[in-house]
Amino acid sequence: MKIITKSLIIATTLAIGAQATPLYTKCVACHGTSGEKAALNKSLIIKDMSKADFVSAMKGYKDGSYGKDQKALMKAQVTTLSDAQIEEIASFIVKK
Ligand code: HEC
Repeated sequence: MKIITKSLIIATTLAIGAQATPLYTKCVACHGTSGEKAALNKSLIIKDMSKADFVSAMKGYKDGSYGKDQKALMKAQVTTLSDAQIEEIASFIVKK
């Protein structure tokens, strides 16, 4: 019984973990599984950004108020994301 309970907890944890990520799936190729890579050797390490900086960068790409020389590329990534979805990705990727 104990073993069954334990594996249920693990399965649930895995399911929740997987659920937190679908919006981030398309970012992995450039930013790494957990935001640990500098995309195209250009971007900041996004997991080390503060949540406020992350969210304002994402919204800035969307409305054109933020970005460096590769900003057109990021604009294409964020145009379809709502503010709520940006918050959701931030909660997954940013630890502080
Ligand atoms: C095709 C590669 C690529 C994909 C896919 C991509 N990014 Fe980026 N990202 C970049 C590059 C390159 C930059 C630097 C852009 C610039 O010059 O402003 C960047 C910048 C950022 C920044 C700001 C960091 C900084 O340097 O100021 C954030 C935050 C970010 N990306 C999040 C995401 C998220 C979240 C996704 C998925 C929804 C995503 N990116 C998808 C390549 C990518």
